Amino acid sequence: MVPLVGAIDEGTSSARFILFKAGTAEVVASHQQELSQIYPQEGWVEQDPLEILKVVNICIEKTIDKLISAGGSVNDIVAVGVTNQRESTLVWDKTTGEPLYNSIVWLDVRTSSTVDQLLDLVPNRSRNKNYLKPLCGLPLSPYFSAVKLKWLQDNITKVKKAIVAGNCFFGTVDTWLIWNLTGGAQGGVHITDVSNASRTMLMNIDTLKWDSKLISFFGIPASILPKIKSSSELYGNIKGGSLQGVPLSGCLGDQQSALVGQQCLSRGQAKATYGTGCFLLYNTGNLKVNSTHGLITTVAYQLGPKQPAVYALEGSVAIAGAALNWLRDNLNILPSFSKAQEIAEKAELIKRGEVTFVPAFSGLYAPYWQQEARGVIVGITEDTQACHIVRATLDAVCFQTRDILEAMNKDYGSPLNTLQVDGGMTANKLLMQLQADLAGVNIVKPNMAESTALGAAMVAGAAVGYWDIMGSRLDIPFEKWDPKLTENQRDVRYSKWKMAVERSMEWDK
Ligand code: G3P
Repeated sequence: MVPLVGAIDEGTSSARFILFKAGTAEVVASHQQELSQIYPQEGWVEQDPLEILKVVNICIEKTIDKLISAGGSVNDIVAVGVTNQRESTLVWDKTTGEPLYNSIVWLDVRTSSTVDQLLDLVPNRSRNKNYLKPLCGLPLSPYFSAVKLKWLQDNITKVKKAIVAGNCFFGTVDTWLIWNLTGGAQGGVHITDVSNASRTMLMNIDTLKWDSKLISFFGIPASILPKIKSSSELYGNIKGGSLQGVPLSGCLGDQQSALVGQQCLSRGQAKATYGTGCFLLYNTGNLKVNSTHGLITTVAYQLGPKQPAVYALEGSVAIAGAALNWLRDNLNILPSFSKAQEIAEKAELIKRGEVTFVPAFSGLYAPYWQQEARGVIVGITEDTQACHIVRATLDAVCFQTRDILEAMNKDYGSPLNTLQVDGGMTANKLLMQLQADLAGVNIVKPNMAESTALGAAMVAGAAVGYWDIMGSRLDIPFEKWDPKLTENQRDVRYSKWKMAVERSMEWDK
């Protein structure tokens, strides 16, 4: 028997289920499927919780079919882990399993006015958005779950009623999936892990427990919250489907999972994942670093109930790959994601141009935290062509990453020489070279694309004794890009970006 560990990777755009040979990065079988996005109003982004569940189950069943066709057996699967889009907020009736509303996706900005109201509650009328940061590591922003949950409680009658009746459960996507996979209304476990809980604004970043001051600030009833567990322990066994009886024993938010999958397990190592957004996490070990430069403090992972938490500084960028989707779907100047490199390269051949694009569609996250900022494209002349806008979009992803790296250097004091990268956009080799050039760091990309799923498999396997995460390092081949611009060239370009960011933040003032 070759033991296998499964990872459910439920992202914003798609879900997948991947089976790894235990203790290795070798993928044995996998299946991926897209998810629908619902946009009921400008700035609102929702998903159907039942569709999320259905798509995950399809991915599991199709992967098992592939495993069996290749001669494998479901009996070889020793554990399954979950990794997920973070912050997205779900509420459901615990007696029926019926969702009380769609999932409010992390990118949704309907709660801008909720944040405004909450800022009024900050003592001394300071409206300090970092008021709760010493407790939870996060600034007040529409991004985090507590604000979304407050909106649901204040605006949706079904939610109010279920809370009064004692039937409401809250969860992020991990909690929703684990509850359903372990039996749902027939005894499912209502849990989350420390990495996901650290994105709600309700968990105390030191005690790793729900914090009474945070809960009362948002007015959330403690009874609807899941139990907080470590990232690697037996939560329960799967009920139903082909995985009946398999232990569910690992859980990590997707960005933290990529940190583990990239084996950034020592203090000072960092990774950036380029997906819908871009998320740079810097492992600070057991030390909780309080950022004074716009980064957030988050729990990276806790490798067992008796282990100490490992923390990270995180720079979250809301729009990365989503800007390419916008070029494709709204402007119709990009036939497909995979053409971005070829089209952007034409900008060099024609003439570079000085177009700068700040894709602040839903405000700016780190290090600015400006929910009112809006997208701007500046520097357009009569020579500007579609290729210049595509190139400016790639530049924007790299400049946003540089913004984060600058803030990390200021907070942590030691500049990063190497950044490990993963995510869909890293297939674009031009983007990788631009990132090295514009940020002045070496870029290292493992040839195994599924770092996020690998992290979840590692923590799940470790909990059942099939993975030695700290003891045996996986040897994964990689590609590398070194900076080619001089510091001066890099800084001239970056100063233009900073000017454009100023304009984007002034836009709605
Ligand atoms: O914080 C949001 C993040 O977890 C979303 O990740 O990969 O689904 O864009 P992704």
